[in-house]
Amino acid sequence: MYLLLAHGPNLNLLGERKPEVYGTTTLADIEAEVAGVANGRGAAVLCFQSNHEGALIDALHSYRRVVDGVVLNAGAWTHTSVALRDAIEAIQLPVVEVHLSNTHRREAFRHRSLIAGVCIGQVTGLGRDGYRVATNLLLDYLEGRP
Ligand code: DQA
Repeated sequence: MYLLLAHGPNLNLLGERKPEVYGTTTLADIEAEVAGVANGRGAAVLCFQSNHEGALIDALHSYRRVVDGVVLNAGAWTHTSVALRDAIEAIQLPVVEVHLSNTHRREAFRHRSLIAGVCIGQVTGLGRDGYRVATNLLLDYLEGRP
């Protein structure tokens, strides 16, 4: 089983970007943690991050026949990108949406997710722990567990 851990814009700066909101964990820390959870359940993780919307969409297209599911923190594109929403729908893979911060407690423009309706679930506001939850959720789903 292969999972894709994908991140959108500005998430390469985790650890230094607004630590009071996103914590001090780096993207490398998160990638290692997700790999650890997945490896412990017999799955492997491929990681991708981009600050370019089309590059993320291209990656989802390219990986669609390589991986079994996706853990995705799309960052700000969550709230703006119909193209990303359509890409998620088009690849026909289970995708779990993750956010470090509780987007519903923040500015109104972060309350709406354009991608939630094409994801199997959303984990928001649990900080780095949310990735562990999302990875286990995705693997449970792929293993056919309720
Ligand atoms: C985020 C929330 C988004 O609103 C924001 O644009 C991000 C990070 C999060 O992980 O909390 O870049 O996805």
